[in-house]
Amino acid sequence: MDRVIIFDTTLRDGEQAAGGTLNIQEKLEIARQLEKLNVDVIEAGFPISSPGDFEAVRLIAKEIRAPIICALARALPQDVDRAWEAVKEAEHPRIHVFLSASDIHRLYQLKKSREEILQTSREMVTRAKKYTDDVEFSPMDASRTEPEYIYQIVEAVIDAGATTVNIPDTVGYAIPDEFGGLIEGIYHHVSNINRAVISVHCHNDLGLAVANSLESIRRGARQVECTINGIGERAGNASLEEIVMAIKTRKDFFNLSTGINTKQIYRTSRLVSELTGFSVQPNKAIVGANAFSHESGIHQDGVIKMPITYEIMDPRTVGIPASSLVMGKLSGRHAFKERLAELGYGLSEEDLSRAFAAFKELADKKREVTDRDIESLIAEEQRTVSEVYHLDRLQVSCGDRGIPTAAVRLIAPDGQVLADAALGTGPVDAVCKAINRLVGVPNVLTEFSIKSVTEGIDAIGEVLIRIESEGITYTGRGADTDIIVASAKAYTNALNRLLAAKR
Ligand code: KIV
Ligand code: ZN
Repeated sequence: MDRVIIFDTTLRDGEQAAGGTLNIQEKLEIARQLEKLNVDVIEAGFPISSPGDFEAVRLIAKEIRAPIICALARALPQDVDRAWEAVKEAEHPRIHVFLSASDIHRLYQLKKSREEILQTSREMVTRAKKYTDDVEFSPMDASRTEPEYIYQIVEAVIDAGATTVNIPDTVGYAIPDEFGGLIEGIYHHVSNINRAVISVHCHNDLGLAVANSLESIRRGARQVECTINGIGERAGNASLEEIVMAIKTRKDFFNLSTGINTKQIYRTSRLVSELTGFSVQPNKAIVGANAFSHESGIHQDGVIKMPITYEIMDPRTVGIPASSLVMGKLSGRHAFKERLAELGYGLSEEDLSRAFAAFKELADKKREVTDRDIESLIAEEQRTVSEVYHLDRLQVSCGDRGIPTAAVRLIAPDGQVLADAALGTGPVDAVCKAINRLVGVPNVLTEFSIKSVTEGIDAIGEVLIRIESEGITYTGRGADTDIIVASAKAYTNALNRLLAAKR
């Protein structure tokens, strides 16, 4: 097999990143984009973990037809049954069962013997197999487990019917040569290995997740589990875009391929960043803002003469538009629609009309509207679609002698117009207090950050706010040329997400 199966776990392991919670609509939107990216498998969630997760997996399974839709389950009967309930309407359903294998997890967490682990693994794969032919099994913390015991587990679960066996480096402890050796060892020591695909799932605690994944496929693994932008628990998971582009760019070395439509990579990265609230660092490989920009004169000279001198990939292959076209208030609806298509957006006529109206409003305030402005504007429009409370009016007064004061008007879910005012230590504090008086949900603001979308004094400001309520973090974002309005939008957005989750 010279094709590597790309298993995307952005919606499951990626969403486990602290503060990255997504609501059901956002998960669906990401799943639609993952289908356009042409991933082979979407791990849509962990259905037993919450009713919201169950519903998200169920809806994704119903709507997204091309990829395999996978649901995660602990090795417990109720987990396996719930996973099946969530994915049973999928065109291609998969159940993914996991159970810890390492002595560290067995002795300190599970308090189970090796024999018990083997037995439960077999039983739960058999249970999943009654529902679907496509069953994956993961011996958790495999990289800290004695290889001989891993071979035993792999053999047992394949006998029980597992069609994919995933080897996780759960805590990001492995070193490429050693991890690759484990994969090679599985091929040499597991007699029924030709009946299953070997997969790898690497975490990035030592910054080696991509290196470990690539070494594993070099040594025989044919499924890689990864996330967009490498988001995930702690330091994250292996980054999908880095693995895919390494395989593509170094085909001479790997002699392998994937089914990924690489032109959708940039759009997918932007969407995941917008919806999770996790910015992409500028120097991030493949999708960072500086990944294809050349600063030194010698490099610029080379790239002008022949891009291959300093560019190992053509930015267009990952969907970065060839040029950043500047639009303005004279640009018409048709040109706007064309630009959106080039940026990878396919909006309905209704959404296009709303986006175009917002674009015209922005073009009146800002002389030049760039691609980044358009992306920010579309994200802002999308945030307003599933609002509970809508920010209608805002008025703030502040200054070095004044008392910061905010007056806010919100439209409530029943259409009622609510207004109130508050004083604060600064304008943002006053805005948040006024909104709190109207919404009345206890919460603590844990993070506030602001950045400008482009250069220039007239730039759009993007605000990210995280709030905490009952131990759960909710992220809100807002964008506006007025940063206090952007802050009010971000705070309302965070509260809306909190309220939607509570409902
Ligand atoms: O990191 C891990 O071990 C996991 C498993 C559930 C596959 O995420
Ligand atoms: Zn993981």
